[in-house]
Amino acid sequence: MSETRIGTTRLQRISRAYTETAVLYAALDLELFTHIARGATSLAALAEAMDVSLLNAERLLTCVLAMGLVERNGDTYHNAPDSARYLVSDAPAYAAPWMTFTRGDVPGWFRLTEILRDPAPPSTLGMYADLTVASARAYHAATYSIGMGAGRRFCREVDLTGRHRLLDLGGGSGAYSINAVQRFDGLRAVVLDLPPVIEVTREYLERHDVTDRIDTLAGDFTVTALPRDCDCAVMASNLPIYDAAAIRAVIARVHDALLPGGEFHLVGEMLDNDGAGPLDAAMWGMYEAVCGSAGRAHSIAECIGYLEAAGFVDVAEAVFVPGTLHRVSGVKRG
Ligand SMILES: C[S@@+](CC[C@H](N)C(=O)[O-])C[C@H]1O[C@@H](n2cnc3c(N)ncnc32)[C@H](O)[C@@H]1O
Repeated sequence: MSETRIGTTRLQRISRAYTETAVLYAALDLELFTHIARGATSLAALAEAMDVSLLNAERLLTCVLAMGLVERNGDTYHNAPDSARYLVSDAPAYAAPWMTFTRGDVPGWFRLTEILRDPAPPSTLGMYADLTVASARAYHAATYSIGMGAGRRFCREVDLTGRHRLLDLGGGSGAYSINAVQRFDGLRAVVLDLPPVIEVTREYLERHDVTDRIDTLAGDFTVTALPRDCDCAVMASNLPIYDAAAIRAVIARVHDALLPGGEFHLVGEMLDNDGAGPLDAAMWGMYEAVCGSAGRAHSIAECIGYLEAAGFVDVAEAVFVPGTLHRVSGVKRG
């Protein structure tokens, strides 16, 4: 019987995983992927375009090649498919603002030991407590492109035909609502978000020319009275910000406010029921420690339990974005 040799390779990779992040940030700052897309495909051309020495260009290209972000044919570099689609600055799906969304939190992550030992009670809103219109604008410049992709996916997977008004809790840029009213004839929506965010939501609604079909409501979904004329609701990408009691209470409020027969969709990073992953869901839970909130990672089974406890029936779950987002849905009895 062959013995599996236990080595340190995996542990070494994890212990230096931050180096990959740093290389990606630098490549984005230096617009490496954009320069390649615009035709600077040799080492010398890239060094000149990025205004770095040949030595440093070679170091960077060696790393991004090893990370699979860039591919090489002879002496010619080209972008890997995902780099070409999401990391080239004039590409329609450019997502670098989202990829660097938590860059400002890097020092916080490296204080994690201290944070975990801090006996001070967490705040309810965490990173959202001190939002200004300017910080909300920067935040949603990052969430917008990824949110629009998720909103499109939501509308492909959830048939809202015949529904009249969608309540979009913590709707941010309005990405889900914008996609929904554009896809489903006759559907209207209301985006509820914190007051500084709603200023920014209105800018996105204007940009998409949907202000006649989407209303905004400035408030806090844990306390603000919810509209009582909606027959469908979605809460997307807020889940780890809150603890179980808060999520349970919000879902009970949604159930109370929805019209009979209305449907609710909770989309978020959820742990598998054994609690052992996915890593992304676990890390978003930990991110809340860095942000100082009481939030945590919730499992799919917990989320199903929140909906059932609120009174939703026909509660079902589905993978939304593999490894990242899950969807738990239910219906209010008619
Ligand atoms: C990560 S963004 C997601 C935005 C949008 N749902 C999407 O998927 O593109 C989370 C949003 O939830 C909002 N939010 C968090 N807590 C909230 C609360 N208590 N009341 C209203 N909005 C809240 C934040 O302001 C932010 O806009």
